[in-house]
Amino acid sequence: MLRTGLYTAVIGRSVRYYQSTGSTMDDVAQWAGTGADEGVVVVAETQTASRGRLGRRWISDEGNLYFSVLFRPEPEALPLLSPLAGVAVARAIRQVAGLYPTIKWPNDVMIDGRKVAGILAESAVSGSQVQHAVVGVGVNVALDVSLDAEIAATATSLNHASGSEIDRPELLRRILQHMDALYLDLRRGRSPIAEWRRWLDTLGQRVTVTHHGATDTGLAEDIDEHGNLLLRTDAGDLLTLTAGDITLRAAQGAPAANA
Ligand code: BTN
Repeated sequence: MLRTGLYTAVIGRSVRYYQSTGSTMDDVAQWAGTGADEGVVVVAETQTASRGRLGRRWISDEGNLYFSVLFRPEPEALPLLSPLAGVAVARAIRQVAGLYPTIKWPNDVMIDGRKVAGILAESAVSGSQVQHAVVGVGVNVALDVSLDAEIAATATSLNHASGSEIDRPELLRRILQHMDALYLDLRRGRSPIAEWRRWLDTLGQRVTVTHHGATDTGLAEDIDEHGNLLLRTDAGDLLTLTAGDITLRAAQGAPAANA
C-alpha cells in the first residue's frame, strides 16, 4: 500500500511496515547488516524504544509518522544526509500541509517556532569506509502535545498547526520522493546545503550552545559546506560546531527530543 504511487529510483524501493517495533533505526541497521540495498525504508505505527538526538527519548504514540532509511553513501556525502532529510521534510510539509516550516540548526523542523519533526542520522564506519548510514525521521502529525507537559510549550503537530487532518501516506510518499531526488543529485555532486541554508532560521540569531560540557553564546554567523555551524562568540572567536554533540538552546533539564 505504501509503495503505491511512490515513484523513486533508490529510496523506498523496498518498504517494510510494522505496527509496532522497538526503533526503526535498529530495524534498518539490522537489514543493513544482512547486506540489504540502500533505499530500504522501515515505517512503524508506534515504537517502544525510539530515540532522538543526544540519546533523548522520542515520543512515539500512534497517529504520527516514524520511519528510517538505509543509505550506503560515499564518505564525503555522509554529513550531508541529515541536511538532505531536513530539506525533504520541509518541502513535503509545505506541499502536503500548506505550512511554512523552518529548520533550526542542526535539524529540527519547526512551525511558528515549535518543533514538528526531528531527524536522526546514525552510521557505521570502518576506517575510511562507510558501511551504512541510517536516517530516521519522526513527524508529529496528530500528536496531542498538551498531554505531555515536557513538550507542551515547545512542540506542535501538523494537524494542530494546519487545522486539518494530514494525509500521512501522502506525507511519507512526498518525503521519500524528495529524499530520492536530493540523493540522486548528491550522488551527481550536487549538495543539498544551499537549499538547506535557505530553510534555516538560525543564521543571524544570538544563540547559546552547549558542547562537550562547555557553553558558548554568540552570533550564528553561517554554516559551512558540511553543515557545521560557524558561531562568532561574544569573545570574538569563530567556532566550527558539528551537529553530533551540541545542544542549541537555553536548556533546562533534559526534555524529550520532540520538544
Ligand atoms: C531528534 O529530533 O532528536 C531526532 C528524532 C528522530 C526520531 C525518529 S522516529 C523514527 C526513527 N526511530 C527512532 O528511534 N528515532 C527516529
